[in-house]
Amino acid sequence: LNIGVLVSGGGSNLQAIMDRIESGYLKNVQIVTVVSSKTGVYALQRAQEHGINNTCISRKSFESMEAYDDALIRHFDAHKADLVVMAGFLSILGESFNKFYDKRVINIHPSLIPAFCGKGFYGIIPHRHVIESGVKVTGATVHFVELEADTGPIILQKAVYVEDEDTPESLQKRVMEQAEWEILPEAIKLYAENRLVIEGRRVKIV
Ligand code: GRF
Repeated sequence: LNIGVLVSGGGSNLQAIMDRIESGYLKNVQIVTVVSSKTGVYALQRAQEHGINNTCISRKSFESMEAYDDALIRHFDAHKADLVVMAGFLSILGESFNKFYDKRVINIHPSLIPAFCGKGFYGIIPHRHVIESGVKVTGATVHFVELEADTGPIILQKAVYVEDEDTPESLQKRVMEQAEWEILPEAIKLYAENRLVIEGRRVKIV
């Protein structure tokens, strides 16, 4: 399975995928390209160090959503990507990208969707809301991407308990280490093994 990875920042989720490929957990999976929405991010350096094709394609270089979508589609298609993985990606994909890669784009979100998600909930922000709301459990979600942010059929979720002394930063760190870096590679494995069956809003693992 050829995967293309969309990033915007540190790339710790990208690193988790690279590590699982190297450990043999992800068999017959290769990262064919890494695309960042921003230049100079550590995620691009991680790809470079692993000899993986990497580039920056940023929304602001295009005069329309369609032109941006088209550039992304042409890039991923040129690299024969079968699955596109959004790993800490902070830009948005438009109608034509989602049509072209229908049910072939997955995203990792740092909360238990439908809680603490949607417009404006990215990076540290969900964790701040989790602490302020007093909930005892949060976690991470991997889902198929649809046009509206964080709304597609859910593939995997993993819960993480909120501790009394947690700060947004300590909580984000634990959600990444104990949930994100585990369920994103696992979702890719299930996809590669054709074990994901979408039935309406639900994803069955067969
Ligand atoms: C993390 O908070 C992750 O939950 C979200 O983006 C942030 C950075 O991820 N998806 P990464 O280190 O760039 O993978």
